[in-house]
Amino acid sequence: MGSYGRLATRALDTDVPVMVKILELGQSAKDALPLGQCPMISDPYAHVEGSFSRVGFYLSRCILSHQSYPDMIQGAVYWKPPEEALEKVKQVAWEPSTSRYGTHEGLPELTEALVNKLCHENKLRNSGVMVTAGSNQGFLNLVLTLCDVADSVVLFAPYFFNAYMSFQMTGINNILVGPSNPTTLLPDADWLEEKLSESKPVPKLVSIVNPGNPSGICIPEPLLQVSLSLSHTHTHTHTETKTNISTFAHPHTPAHACVCHNSTSTCFTQRISDICRRAGSWLVVDNAYEYFVYDDFKHSCVEGNHVINLFSFSKAYGIMGWRVGYIAYSLEAEGLRTQLLKVQDNIAICAPMISQRVALGCLEAGHEWVKIQVKHLLRNKELLTKALSPLGEDAIKGCEGAIYLWAKLPDKYPNDFEVVCWFAQKHGVMLLPGSACGVPGCIRITYGMLRETECEVAAKRLRSGLEELIREGMVG
Ligand SMILES: Cc1ncc(COP(=O)(O)O)c(C=O)c1O
Repeated sequence: MGSYGRLATRALDTDVPVMVKILELGQSAKDALPLGQCPMISDPYAHVEGSFSRVGFYLSRCILSHQSYPDMIQGAVYWKPPEEALEKVKQVAWEPSTSRYGTHEGLPELTEALVNKLCHENKLRNSGVMVTAGSNQGFLNLVLTLCDVADSVVLFAPYFFNAYMSFQMTGINNILVGPSNPTTLLPDADWLEEKLSESKPVPKLVSIVNPGNPSGICIPEPLLQVSLSLSHTHTHTHTETKTNISTFAHPHTPAHACVCHNSTSTCFTQRISDICRRAGSWLVVDNAYEYFVYDDFKHSCVEGNHVINLFSFSKAYGIMGWRVGYIAYSLEAEGLRTQLLKVQDNIAICAPMISQRVALGCLEAGHEWVKIQVKHLLRNKELLTKALSPLGEDAIKGCEGAIYLWAKLPDKYPNDFEVVCWFAQKHGVMLLPGSACGVPGCIRITYGMLRETECEVAAKRLRSGLEELIREGMVG
């Protein structure tokens, strides 16, 4: 048997992440030729591998053929971390503790600051914290802690592709992909209720992302939700409830844990949470884009002993490469903390110490600093939304928050891979095919990596590409 046959099926059966391919192929192409020259090489993946590789190949050609290609594919931001956070690194680099292992849950000063932040900003008043090397590692930790391979899990399409792959990579193949409301792109709560009540055994974990990647949806706050629920065909209660979480002594409650009374409004997320609680499923909410809300939207969280919230420093503070995220887990969930510690000890042991120091510096700059950066993205959002207008208003869905626009291609282009390759080759624009998120025939556009001038170029290219696509098809 060749070595290929000796590789794990769980790895072989997992799609090659589109980002891995793009970076890999882009790099090898760059190494081979100076930037700006378009190599006339044939597509080596045409018949060999899956379509992700083909997208990667064409996108790498895009990198080569357009000196300044606007990056609308990578879920990242263009800004640098707060200066004071970086200044800290200089001071702490030589401290012996920076080079040693830290505690599994994170630097005590950082976890303390995070518990405080969760309590005051997110109203999560009964949550412990585990700092991870980015929230992707946090999600994987959770999958390993909560799910067995025989379990089923739930995602909603369009889903965050890394979440899907975390399940695949850990051998969990029973991934139930639920629909989203065709107009709002909000997860279909009625479908969830039905699925969780009829599936035996009940799905172990339900995952939602708010604000959404790739959809950009923002799950509305209670007031907005009331008006949404009125137009919803199914009825469900949206009353205001007061939940009093009494102070309790958990054997592992950290000394600085913020345990206090909580006032929670019943809203959309709360309904999802209630459905999960009743069924006995875990609810994992990914809040990586909590600060990326525009106009009047307000991000909010839910708490419960079956709910786990994930957060990331990456985009908010522009520290993607430092790799810091955190899990906010319920202190009431019996045994959870101990099992999380086991997983953490076998993967990262602790998040990089120097990165945790940077994260602490970021927290000191605070969410007001983040909001100033995020405000600059509004113009990008506007420019690119306008550029999508040849597709028609109804084609653009979600898009309220995060750094993403989600659009449906005309019906005659169900093969989004082909369209994305064509855009890369012909128009020097990199887009993510909706198929990567479980919804073919759509595209995701990222606007976080572009400064305004770059965005203007991107918007022009996108618009002229779309006009050509609609007028003449994928010619040239
Ligand atoms: C929804 C969502 N969660 C998590 C991540 C990963 O974040 P991190 O850099 O903290 O691992 C991303 C990155 O794109 C994301 O979009």
